[in-house]
Parts: sequence; structure tokens; C-alpha cells
Amino acid sequence: MSSSSSPALLDKDFERFKRELPRDFPAHIRDAYRIDLSARYLGTPIPHPIGKGSGQLSLNTGQLETDAEAGLAFAVLKTVIAQDAGGTQSMAAWAIHETKMKVERRGEGWTVTWKGRGWDRSFDDYLALVRAGRDLTRDGRLLALPSVKYHLPRLDEPFRDDEYAFTTRALAQAWGESPLLVEKDFSPTLAGDRLADEKAQILRWLREVPQHIRAHADVRLAMKLMNARFDDDFQVEMMKAASSADALVVFNRLFDSNRAIAYGGSELSDRNLRVLGFLTPGASPGTPELSGTGNVSSGRRIVEYARRGCSSVQLHTFFQLPLEEYPATDGSRTQRALHALIFDPHDGLIAAMLEQEAAGSLARAGGELRFLDLVGEPG
Ligand SMILES: Cc1cc2nc3c(=O)[nH]c(=O)nc-3n(C[C@H](O)[C@H](O)[C@H](O)COP(=O)(O)O)c2cc1C
Repeated sequence: MSSSSSPALLDKDFERFKRELPRDFPAHIRDAYRIDLSARYLGTPIPHPIGKGSGQLSLNTGQLETDAEAGLAFAVLKTVIAQDAGGTQSMAAWAIHETKMKVERRGEGWTVTWKGRGWDRSFDDYLALVRAGRDLTRDGRLLALPSVKYHLPRLDEPFRDDEYAFTTRALAQAWGESPLLVEKDFSPTLAGDRLADEKAQILRWLREVPQHIRAHADVRLAMKLMNARFDDDFQVEMMKAASSADALVVFNRLFDSNRAIAYGGSELSDRNLRVLGFLTPGASPGTPELSGTGNVSSGRRIVEYARRGCSSVQLHTFFQLPLEEYPATDGSRTQRALHALIFDPHDGLIAAMLEQEAAGSLARAGGELRFLDLVGEPG
């Protein structure tokens, strides 16, 4: 396939995959377009860069099965609130129950309004979900890993290591293999909490949390950073403070303190991409891998995150749109979302990568365009 005939093929694939997306679409893309979508999340090779961020879409095995079936690259389980052996949770205020979500337009994008917080069922139920995720991971069907919110102390307080110990060991045991892959969530509602009023306090968490987790198991750790209510320079400072993590997820939703809700949309991707832009060109060696999150609603946006250093992306809102917003006519929401993100002839990932090639900012290597060649290269 020469790259000049790719656009016609893309139109055809976009149309025919509206009815059914082949599960192994990365193999088809490699074969038909000579495009290698291989990507990386938390040190793990994945077939393409698109995963699901932690939240209401990874609460049960049914959702994970559907995602594995659709060919999603990875899913982060809903955040569980850490506890000690007696079941005490210092962050219990984040384990509240709320079911109603509202998907709304915000600026040029979409946001989901929801007042709930972390996992609200038992810790044992969570461990059962972790084991299901581990099985899917082991079978190579879907990388599915846990997410935790651990205790965060005030500046003059110590960390509650009993919560770190009990939760980390239980997760490591459920995961069953070394290392345990896990995300640590610093959530947007935390950014809105008085706990996060002080810069020094946040920076201490980011510097010290990794050692408190790693003290209890062999862990490969991603830290999901919040958008703090300070300026862009502080976001960069946060990333530097968190540099002992293996990966950083950048950055969780913005916090609207008037309405006391977290939100996304174009304001979120504008801020995230602007802040990440301060770090390019090229990620320096030894810095954590980056996974982008925030208003990823097209392949073009995936390329923008990749150019700023992200070797994967994690979406939530785009998997929740009203069905009529997806061009596909059949399939699960995950399939329909992947279809649009990858195959849209104007804004999909294939189109965006071919456009980069045409502009001379992405070259073929061994005849192939490679997603990972975009990462951290300003183009
Ligand atoms: C309803 C909802 C619940 C979420 N819950 C969590 C959570 O428990 N833990 C977490 O780390 N992120 C959570 N997130 C954040 C998402 O994983 C994602 O990072 C964020 O929404 C930005 O991506 P998006 O613009 O594609 O939605 C949640 C998001 C939404 C919309």
C-alpha cells in the first residue's frame, strides 16, 4: 500500500467498520496502511495508545469484558479508597455513593457532571475486580489495573503507613505477579478540598507518596496528577516533584469551586496541552513516562498529547457520549468510540498520522509510520 492510496482506503474502512470494528484493528492498520500504532502505558507495550481512565466505566467485570472484546488497549479500574486492617479509611469522605451522571456540552467539548467520588462497595469486592483485571491482563486481552487513593497528611502530620501497608499488600496479593501495576489518584475533588490549599503540602505528597507505597510491595507506579488551583508553573513543579513515579497521568479534571464539581471539555485539554508544552522538546531520559488525559475526543487530539510526550491516552467522557454522536451504527460504546478515534477520515488517528507524514513531520522507518515516533517530538 502506498501512502497516496491510503485516503481512499480510509474512507472505505471508516464506512464498513461503522457496522463492526474488527477486534484486531491494529493488525489491519499495520498491514493495510503500514502504520504501527504500538504504544506504551506504565512500561507495558500496548497495541495502540487508547485506554480508559479510572471511573464509572470500570466498576465491574461486564464492563471489562466489553472493553476487551472491543480491543481497548487498557483500562484503569475505579479508584478504591485505601484502608487499614481494621477497615478504617482516613480518606473516607471520598468513598461516597452517587449514581447519577449527566453528560453535557461544555464549550466546544463535552463534560460529565457527577458528584460521587471513589469506590463505594467493600474492599473485598474491589479485590475480586482486581483479580478479574489480572486475568484479562495475563491472557493478553486487556491490561486492567487498579487505582487507589491513599491517605494524604497535612504538612505537620505523618503518613498513615498502616493504610499504605494493608492496601498495597492486599492489591499485590490479588494481582499475583511482580510487579503490581497501580495508579495513585490525586483527584480533582481533592484539588477543591482545603487539604490542597498549600503548595508545600501538595509537593510533599508528590515527593513522598511513592516511597510509602513501594515500602510494602514491588510496585510499578503511575501517579495521576490533579489540576491544582494554582498557575501553570505550579503544574510543572508538581511534575518535577513526582519524578520518582514510573509514570504520570496528566492531568485529571479541573475543579469548579462555585459549583463544587469537577469538569472537562476544551478548557481541560487547553490547559493540559499548554502545561505539557512547557516540557518539550523531547522528554529527558530518566523522567517518568507520560499518559495523557483530558478531552481526548479525536485522533488529532491524541497526536497533540503524543507530541507533548504522552505514549498513551486515557479517556472517560468520550466513552459516554449520546449514541447519535458516534458515526458508527452498531457495537458497544467502546467500539464506536474507537472507530471514530481511529478511522475518522478527517480527525482520526490514521488521518492525523498521514497528515503528519505529508507535512514532513513524521517519517517512515522501515516503510512504516510509527505512533511512538511522535512521542515527545514537537513535529
Ligand atoms: C464520572 C467520572 C468519574 C471519574 N472517577 C475517577 C476516579 O475514580 N479516579 C480517577 O483517577 N479519575 C476519575 N475520573 C477522571 C477520568 O478518569 C479522566 O481522567 C478525566 O475525566 C479526564 O478525561 P476525559 O476528559 O476523557 O473525561 C472520573 C471522571 C468522570 C467523568
